[in-house]
Amino acid sequence: MALILGLESSCDDSAAALVTSDRRILAQAVVGQDAAHRPYGGVVPEIAARAHVERLPGLIRQVMAEAGVVPSDLDAIGATAGPGLIGGVMVALLAGKGLALAAGKPLITVNHLEGHALSPRLADTGLGFPYLLLLVSGGHCQLLLVGGVGQYRRLATTIDDAAGEAFDKAAKMLGLTYPGGPAIEALAASGDPRAVPLPRPLLGSDEPHFSFAGLKSAVQRAVATGAHRPEDIAASFQQAVVDCLVDRTARALASSDAPTLVVAGGVAANGAVRTALAELAQRSSRRYSVPPGWLCTDNAAMIGWAGAERFALGLVDRLDAPARARWPLDERAEPVRGAGVKA
Ligand code: KG4
Ligand code: ZN
Repeated sequence: MALILGLESSCDDSAAALVTSDRRILAQAVVGQDAAHRPYGGVVPEIAARAHVERLPGLIRQVMAEAGVVPSDLDAIGATAGPGLIGGVMVALLAGKGLALAAGKPLITVNHLEGHALSPRLADTGLGFPYLLLLVSGGHCQLLLVGGVGQYRRLATTIDDAAGEAFDKAAKMLGLTYPGGPAIEALAASGDPRAVPLPRPLLGSDEPHFSFAGLKSAVQRAVATGAHRPEDIAASFQQAVVDCLVDRTARALASSDAPTLVVAGGVAANGAVRTALAELAQRSSRRYSVPPGWLCTDNAAMIGWAGAERFALGLVDRLDAPARARWPLDERAEPVRGAGVKA
């Protein structure tokens, strides 16, 4: 059994967690920064980086105290090294290097996207490789064939906005508070998903990718008419996103023999998304796996777990490992128009 300290600071959540290779989370803590970024309607990198510097050390102390663990008990330290907002990424990475150096323990640099990609295996003991993964977060919207730890083949990505980004922007248009995903979901609960006609970009398209920019513009126009109830716009928008995710995932499933469909990333916390993809898996006779909501949004348990998976394979890193703003899971995948601009 290996004990890993996971550290995360690549966006607007500071997080630390103690995770074991036999899937126990001894302690974990996440502190968001929603209030600090709310006036700006999105994450301000400089504010985020400074907040991580202030908060992460306290969270590390907290989880170690809670679990009664001291640095010499650790087998390794897993820290997110990208992709993300570089100022923030550097905080957890350097904290991890400092601890590794002081305790004489190995450092494991974790790709944040690999944290999301492997997170379902922390919660679902029976989930083996390979699986088809829909990774939907604030910065990414991808379909990946996951063959094993470190083995990712990208089948599709977004040509413009990520799904979570679309939620955040639509929420802003509706005057809702940041982050937009949970706010839209709450408002949509009392709305009619058929009330506002909205486009479903690339639905039924031969190309495998996602697109949400046209949907976002249509929401803007629907808001501007003043003719619709906000809850109806929210519900119709959410339904349009769900329809796009299901359609693109169904297309990928049709040409894959992966036995399991997996959904992960912040948008996978959305109830409508979870249900629609569960139904798709059932229709397609695939096993379905989605982590609990708290494990979908950013956290350090998934980073500690990815660290544990890498540690088991002997994949440790040097203390001069770089922080990476951009770090695709599938390094061989061709860039598509507009994608990869955002972290
Ligand atoms: O994975 P995550 O926490 O951070 C990134 O790595 O990006 O994902 C954050 C994104 C945000 O865009 C947020 O609005 C969205 O996930 N999100 C949701 C929900 N909870 C978080 N979107 C829709 N419904 C939700 N319940
Ligand atoms: Zn994330």
